[in-house]
Amino acid sequence: MNDPVSAAWENLRALPQPTLAELFEAPARVEQLSDRIEWQDGGITFDWSKTHLDEAVLSGFEALADACDFAGRRAALLSGERINNTEGRAAEHTAQRGVGRDASVEEAEALHARMRMLVEAIHAGALGEVRHLIHVGIGGSALGPALAVDALARDLALVDVHVVSNIDGCALEAAFKACDPATTMVAVASKTFTTIETMTNAASALKWLGEGGVSDPFGRVVALTASPDKAVEWGVDESRVLPFPETVGGRYSLWSSIGFPVALAVGWDEFSQMLAGAQLVDEHFRDTDGRANLCLRAAFADQYYTRLRGCQTRAVFAYDERFALFPSYLQQLEMESNGKLVKADGTPVDGPTAPITWGGVGTDAQHAVFQLLHQGTNLVPVDFIASIAPGDDLDPAHHAILLTNCFAQGAALMAGGNMSADGKDPARAFPGDRPSATILCDDLDAATLGALIAFHEHRTFANAVLMEINPFDQFGVELGKKMAKDIEAGDAQFDASTTALLQAAGLG
Ligand code: F6P
Repeated sequence: MNDPVSAAWENLRALPQPTLAELFEAPARVEQLSDRIEWQDGGITFDWSKTHLDEAVLSGFEALADACDFAGRRAALLSGERINNTEGRAAEHTAQRGVGRDASVEEAEALHARMRMLVEAIHAGALGEVRHLIHVGIGGSALGPALAVDALARDLALVDVHVVSNIDGCALEAAFKACDPATTMVAVASKTFTTIETMTNAASALKWLGEGGVSDPFGRVVALTASPDKAVEWGVDESRVLPFPETVGGRYSLWSSIGFPVALAVGWDEFSQMLAGAQLVDEHFRDTDGRANLCLRAAFADQYYTRLRGCQTRAVFAYDERFALFPSYLQQLEMESNGKLVKADGTPVDGPTAPITWGGVGTDAQHAVFQLLHQGTNLVPVDFIASIAPGDDLDPAHHAILLTNCFAQGAALMAGGNMSADGKDPARAFPGDRPSATILCDDLDAATLGALIAFHEHRTFANAVLMEINPFDQFGVELGKKMAKDIEAGDAQFDASTTALLQAAGLG
């Protein structure tokens, strides 16, 4: 039976695949595929013209989106339906910034009010002098705070924040070296309040406070969690437990109390601006259909490269130091959401799902991985992210060179050519026709950061809809955790390699 989804894919697979050079022969290509989302004092340009999207591909993916009931799935997401079917829960990260089921938006506003009170009390000295925060968390309880603090708190840090995630004691020791126990608070960020890395780091941080002369270490702890009872049971005073709803997924939780270190570092107004930027994109995503929906259009291109051009990875390069942590953030968001083998209904997927998201910061990456991107055997769609406004006050030449290189790399990937004198040296040949998209921000402020993260949340969701998978569970992380616990319990038989390694390390 040729259901509409299969028919849409068959149509897409049958389409011709013109080169970028051929596509650029069409007039007004850039106007058709470069659009802005903007607000009163800022905006972002999304230039997808150097991807292989064309009228036939866009129409084909719009037909696929209809066949996958994109509009219905979007409505289910934004109305708080239990769209995370395998865990029987809604996915309500957008309610944290005012878009979603009324009751959930109201709950988020109340929880934000509580968070704001604590942040402003700390800033006012109610808990004594606070100069440092050690934020312990991992995955979605760390990556978002680390990205936002690194991006926004470079100039104005009301409190010096250190995000510690790894169980490797070197990470926590580095934070200790930079902080004074007498003026340090500790945020324990864990949705479940059970993650072994976080709870171990939290215990060591408490010990460090005590050994540093703090008479009541627990009095310096704030818990950020969807399990408030566990935090109180662990010893955190209820007044310093900042809950967030179970329906906010870890990798979607920056907007909730998990964002506490951001508000502490840059102030509540900046944190609110970040929420407002995300809300703008939520409204664009909610109110716009087809190719005009820029999050959906990005997913069209993602699906084109993954399922029609055999691309197994996608690369993201932030040509801005303030966004250096963005590729790592996107790795969890995209790979933990869409790195799946089965559809939401439990049947096998029809083709490749999430590509491997990787990347780095420009211009450094040009001196490390761009050789492969230009002349390797892998076709890798590239996203460039940059800001027109610089983040520094040095000679403007710095930013001009940064942006020039960013744009030149996209142009070179597309144009190709041969760098030898006679134009015939195969070692100096560049095939070209290599796609890229450019996200050009007017500036990298709090609203822009919020908008850009929300854009990628919805891009990830749209990809999931087009692949008919559930992006909100993550059972794939459980087996490794279980085996680690079995090793600790000493009651498990492992393969010969693992057994030998454990014995060599004195753990077996
Ligand atoms: O990696 C698995 C995971 O559950 C992530 O989804 C989550 O962000 C991270 O571990 C930390 O979980 P928690 O916030 O419950 O400590």
